[in-house]
Amino acid sequence: MVKAIRVHEFGGPQVLKWEDVEIGEPKEGEVHVRNKAIGVNFIDVYFGKGVDKAPSLPFTPAYAGPPPLGSYAEEQILPANKLVSVPPKIDPIIEASIMSKGMTTRYLLRSCFKVEPGHTILVHAAAGGMGSLLCQWANTLGATVIGTVSNKTKAVQAKEDGCHHVIIYTEEDFVARVNEITSGNGVEVVYDSVGKSTFEVVPIISYATCI
Ligand SMILES: NC(=O)c1ccc[n+]([C@@H]2O[C@H](COP(=O)([O-])OP(=O)(O)OC[C@H]3O[C@@H](n4cnc5c(N)ncnc54)[C@H](OP(=O)(O)O)[C@@H]3O)[C@@H](O)[C@H]2O)c1
Repeated sequence: MVKAIRVHEFGGPQVLKWEDVEIGEPKEGEVHVRNKAIGVNFIDVYFGKGVDKAPSLPFTPAYAGPPPLGSYAEEQILPANKLVSVPPKIDPIIEASIMSKGMTTRYLLRSCFKVEPGHTILVHAAAGGMGSLLCQWANTLGATVIGTVSNKTKAVQAKEDGCHHVIIYTEEDFVARVNEITSGNGVEVVYDSVGKSTFEVVPIISYATCI
């Protein structure tokens, strides 16, 4: 038996139960993993509430989404081909917190659109989990980073994360501010993890939604 967090009914944090579970033995192509640290991700909330459907109730949530669920546990059985080898010098807490966001950020900055020195980029929700990493990475790539956030505390965070210009969108018109900062030229790319209220309003060359 190992301890795991289980969800028997959909809802908020109150539905998370710390229980004994039987995980069995690994079959061919599987490995028995001991979790030293796990990431916690907003998608866990969707699974807990049933917005994103888990395969069946009860289930053990996972920070990276399916397949397979189950990382909210001391130990779990995983397909070997889902594992990634990480250098031992990297702290498990860093590994767990950065893997999903890191892969997404790499794809956004290097594949989806290749950010180069001299580019100006706009990052919505700049102080969010994704935004924070995106701004740091884009800054080191030599881009001018404009970030939008909802309040002053997040503005401080975004500045620390490498935003050259921070716009508090609840106080300022971010379209006007971006046009002002870029002298009306707009930006090379917008990274938007918000959608709807921010879509198609700034002159851009590329638009990436982070879904
Ligand atoms: N984290 C990952 O590993 C990952 C991977 C792939 C895709 N994604 C996607 O990236 C997006 C952001 O994820 P995240 O992990 O960075 O989330 P997060 O840490 O919760 O940040 C989201 C931010 O979005 C802003 N926001 C604006 N309108 C919102 C609304 N109506 N509801 C909630 N937030 C709102 C908020 O910042 P302000 O208060 O400053 O507006 C909030 O801090 C999500 O769509 C997620 O599915 C995330």
